[in-house]
Amino acid sequence: MLRGGVKDTIYAVVDAEAPDEDIIRSAAEILMQGGLVAFPTETVYGLGADASNAEAVARVYQVKGRPSDNPLIWHGNSIDQLESVAHFSAEALKLAKAYWPGALTMVLPRKHPPGLYGSNGTVAVRIPSHPVTGALIEASGCIIAAPSANLSGRPSPTRARHVRNDLGGAIEMIIDGGPSHNGLESTVVDLHAEGSPRLLRPGAVTPEMLKDVLGKLECPPADLGEAADGEAPLSPGMKYRHYAPQAPLILLIGSRDAVSAKIENCLNGRPVGILRSSGETPEDVAKNLFERLRRFDEEGAELIIAEGVKEEGIGLAIMNRLKKAAAEVIYV
Ligand code: TXA
Ligand code: MG
Repeated sequence: MLRGGVKDTIYAVVDAEAPDEDIIRSAAEILMQGGLVAFPTETVYGLGADASNAEAVARVYQVKGRPSDNPLIWHGNSIDQLESVAHFSAEALKLAKAYWPGALTMVLPRKHPPGLYGSNGTVAVRIPSHPVTGALIEASGCIIAAPSANLSGRPSPTRARHVRNDLGGAIEMIIDGGPSHNGLESTVVDLHAEGSPRLLRPGAVTPEMLKDVLGKLECPPADLGEAADGEAPLSPGMKYRHYAPQAPLILLIGSRDAVSAKIENCLNGRPVGILRSSGETPEDVAKNLFERLRRFDEEGAELIIAEGVKEEGIGLAIMNRLKKAAAEVIYV
């Protein structure tokens, strides 16, 4: 079938709430035959392969340019299905009950070591809430291994157009289900060592929400920055520069006035993209963040200046992504 150099990526638009069954069936068949399909989820767009097909999964790494030591999230429709690959502790079941389907990924001990996909005998699993993702898992019968559907290092895609820009011509199909609802990737929590849950990536399911269920949560350094040289990263994905637009991004942290003054200073007649929220909810800032970063690139910005937000609630996830995208962080 369509492996290697794909020339024509099938592009299909669906109603996010009630996707066309024929389109879902074609997409499912592509997955079952070892092809790659990009699809919408409630967080960002994913690039899916049948998790049990090593060749297909290897191609996901190849088309994204993803380092091979950075494992993928396995997406399922039910705990029953995911129990075939992961051990669910009582803690994990409680979290699943509270926040699945949804923007939460759990790193759990893995069953049947399936080769290259997990690290440390673990596997990351998630049940998404998006009707298109659910329909695709259902129709294919697959657990779908899927990273975000961007080229490695670029901002995650929150529109099908972003996927087409990054991966068009390299994968078999893109399902366009409209803009992503959350706009930031799922929260990742590591539960593989029972009794010591750890936040690996902040997202829409906040530390407070996790603590409500677990009673406790270890949160690594405020900005979840890179691991020090020679130190193993908590989550393999944490050690790479991420979410970065092409233009250098400067993140300004300080009072509104100090930020304004600094921006004036930087402008100098250059095409600069400015990212400040005026009266938007933090949820809307999150939803639009990656689209705005990609738009600055499309519009030829030479520099992007972003204003920091409060690191609380979803603001923690926003700042995590901005700090990783930033070429420089300036406290003003
Ligand atoms: O919202 C999301 O999570 C999206 C949608 C498509 O589900 N997916 C996504 O995948 O963001 P990706 O591959 O871009 O990010 C997955 C993160 C990476 O930081 C990776 O290192 C971490 O999860 N991860 C995956 N498996 C892991 C494991 N076994 N142990 C620790 N971290 C793991
Ligand atoms: Mg990603």
